Amino acid sequence: MWLAFDVSVTVRPLLDCVRVGARDVSAATLVVRNLHEMEALQQALRDLGAQHVRWGARPSDYLVARDALVAALRAGYPQWDATLEADWRQAITDIVIPMLQGAAVETALAAEKLALES
Ligand code: HEM
Repeated sequence: MWLAFDVSVTVRPLLDCVRVGARDVSAATLVVRNLHEMEALQQALRDLGAQHVRWGARPSDYLVARDALVAALRAGYPQWDATLEADWRQAITDIVIPMLQGAAVETALAAEKLALES
């Protein structure tokens, strides 16, 4: 098993997600080099982050997810080196940031809805 660390109670949903996410992150990272296209992805990533609040993802889980994705990629590339490690880590961070922003908006909207109801 390539997960060399304890992912605690989030392990099941996270592993399901890493399987899906690793595929999606590979696809998404192809366009990370192109800043314009990355810009176009921002809203989709915010929406994905909002969806993840409903799936129970917490901010700290994203750091676990990032490590798991990097570990999965490392295990898949025999020529892995420090540059690839740094570039992929940065690419995944660039995906996680808008996801967390979307999660924050989702949480703020839930508060707003509650305030309007009371
Ligand atoms: C780098 C960060 C992450 C990326 C890129 C990512 C990406 C994705 C994608 C593309 C999907 C499929 C969405 C769909 O079906 O419409 C998904 C589903 C999911 N993700 Fe993530 N995710 C990330 C982090 C997390 C974290 C931190 C958790 C929680 C611990 C999580 C839990 C889930 C769950 C529970 C699902 C639904 C799986 C299912 O349908 O069975 N994800 N994720």
